[in-house]
Amino acid sequence: MTHVLVTGGAGYIGSVLTGLLLERGYEVTVLDRMFFGDTLADLRNNQKLHVIQDDIRWCPDSVFKGIDAVCDLAALSNDPAGELNPEKTLEINHEGRARICRIAKQAGVRRYVLASSCSIYGFQDDVVDETSAINPLTTYAVANRRAEESTLGLASKNYTVTAVRQATVYGPSRRMRFDLAINGMTLALHKQGSVKILRDGTQWRPMVHIRDTSRAFITVLEADPAAVNGEIFNVGSDDQNLQVQPLAQRLCHALDMPYVEDWYGDPDHRSYQVSFKKIGERLGYATCETPEIGAREIFAALRKGSLTDGPTTRTVEWYKSLMQWHRTLKDVVQRDVVL
Ligand SMILES: NC(=O)c1ccc[n+]([C@@H]2O[C@H](COP(=O)([O-])OP(=O)(O)OC[C@H]3O[C@@H](n4cnc5c(N)ncnc54)[C@H](O)[C@@H]3O)[C@@H](O)[C@H]2O)c1
Repeated sequence: MTHVLVTGGAGYIGSVLTGLLLERGYEVTVLDRMFFGDTLADLRNNQKLHVIQDDIRWCPDSVFKGIDAVCDLAALSNDPAGELNPEKTLEINHEGRARICRIAKQAGVRRYVLASSCSIYGFQDDVVDETSAINPLTTYAVANRRAEESTLGLASKNYTVTAVRQATVYGPSRRMRFDLAINGMTLALHKQGSVKILRDGTQWRPMVHIRDTSRAFITVLEADPAAVNGEIFNVGSDDQNLQVQPLAQRLCHALDMPYVEDWYGDPDHRSYQVSFKKIGERLGYATCETPEIGAREIFAALRKGSLTDGPTTRTVEWYKSLMQWHRTLKDVVQRDVVL
């Protein structure tokens, strides 16, 4: 396998995955609407990178010409963005990705990996694994479940389909997101020297570094088809099921900042912890990074100015702005110009 199509390849995870695939010698085609701008600028001179600005809902079949494998990451990528317009969320995150999986198969692509999420488990009392009943509580989670069903149902002898349920991701990226727990806390420490914790901080959440989750896609792409075809894998590590308050303390310690107790929101003990044994046992996958490493990387980049807290770093606010501009521009543009 040499040529991988990455949908959402200009996004937070996709742009890091694209960089890692190129480093590994793959030819990569990114298919992305570029909602967050041209995040791949530093990779553009790589001859093995091709970028197609198009939508997974209506791109032509020709995008799959010469493609061996697809990593399907394009989506409205969190719960609040998913609630902006639930119909659009299902259209993109479920039907759009099911479409990509279907037309890739028709075009003769051999492998497909769906970017799903551990949020599909909702809140649960026990530690959940891939065989546990799921509890999708939001439109985003429902769309992920439907996308899993639609794509895994297309697995066949010649078409290897796998879904990866990623933990909450952290770490720096070409398209930075500060709406993710560890990234947001690190930004707060950089800006204010303190961090506020949602609720009382006792809730458990699984976390994974962005390079580790990107490596999981590559592990699946390179695995024996018999080990991954039709399968779901949780992506993360058992020791990164973390409670929010101790996590905040760890980040303060790693960044040499004092920990000041401060929280917002009502106490809420809804939690979930996830088992990551399957991907370790079946594919020999293990994470390499830690929250401390991720926080230090982000903190250093903020200090250096190579990462900034711009408007595109908060997913739902950015989509809201785009929609507002669209309405405004429709009213003022004439002859394709504003002025
Ligand atoms: N970041 C996390 O913590 C996390 C955790 C679990 C699962 N995921 C999943 O991983 C995937 C990537 O997430 P991310 O954090 O990189 O999000 P992101 O928002 O940074 O990236 C999504 C990309 O998809 C593109 N896109 C959106 N709709 C599109 C469409 N209709 N057609 C073409 N391109 C479109 C956007 O322009 C963007 O570049 C998503 O499916 C997300 O649900 C993310």
